[in-house]
Amino acid sequence: MSKVALVTGGSRGIGAAISLALKNAGYTVAANYAGNDEAAQKFTAETGIKTYKWSVADYDACAEGIARVEAELGPVAVLVNNAGITRDSMFHKMTREQWKEVIDTNLSGLFNMTHPVWSGMRDRKFGRIINISSINGQKGQAGQANYSAAKAGDLGFTKALAQEGARAGITVNAICPGYIGTEMVRAIDEKVLNERIIPQIPVGRLGEPEEIARCVVFLASDDAGFITGSTITANGGQYFT
Ligand code: CAA
Repeated sequence: MSKVALVTGGSRGIGAAISLALKNAGYTVAANYAGNDEAAQKFTAETGIKTYKWSVADYDACAEGIARVEAELGPVAVLVNNAGITRDSMFHKMTREQWKEVIDTNLSGLFNMTHPVWSGMRDRKFGRIINISSINGQKGQAGQANYSAAKAGDLGFTKALAQEGARAGITVNAICPGYIGTEMVRAIDEKVLNERIIPQIPVGRLGEPEEIARCVVFLASDDAGFITGSTITANGGQYFT
């Protein structure tokens, strides 16, 4: 039987490419999403991948949603914590809500999703947790104190949990995408994107969602069993760690 992979924010952007790549690699995929019903329905119609609605910022909703996925598809073997939001603002203008929303989704979302699957993975002696962090968690980004803090936190979470999971056959890794051509990045003011951001990318272009999805498929595979606590940096040369 094929392994079950659960991808948060899995019906749009990088998440949609990840869901599809995992399906093509033979996994049974569940794509979680939080809000956009229309996009989710379209995604299911086009790909045959089941979509499940809940917010990763809500612990109880995550526990219930994961229970539903596992009842319908089987135990989750691969969890991809991809869901993320931006609420960009220079810090002097940033509101407490902008701070909290981003921390709740982009950082606490990892706790909320991973905690309910962790015991089962330990019992079965197999698991793959793949956290989608960001270049801006590695280097920091003006206008993103909230996002950079959350994404840096995701890397600490990855390294701590990797040590706990190792003996139980669970690997925990992170991917730090650079600027990828998704709605999130295209929402940046065009002048800021073209004049300040793209010129900083040595390969001279935005990344493709599929370029991140291929990293996920590798980390999920049996071939990657000795890799844990690591970060794959995929940013077109914009920042070296
Ligand atoms: N470093 C230092 N100062 C900066 C700066 C930078 N990188 N960028 C802007 N500033 C300064 C400006 O020079 C300006 O200074 P003055 O007021 O003295 O003139 C001030 O900050 C305000 O700049 P803006 O006019 O741009 O301010 P704004 O309020 O209109 O916009 C912003 C602020 C929304 C944060 C905008 O600058 C922006 O969108 N920046 C890009 C942020 C970014 O990269 N977000 C990534 C989103 S995609 C993503 O997150 C995915 C991923 O993982 C990569």
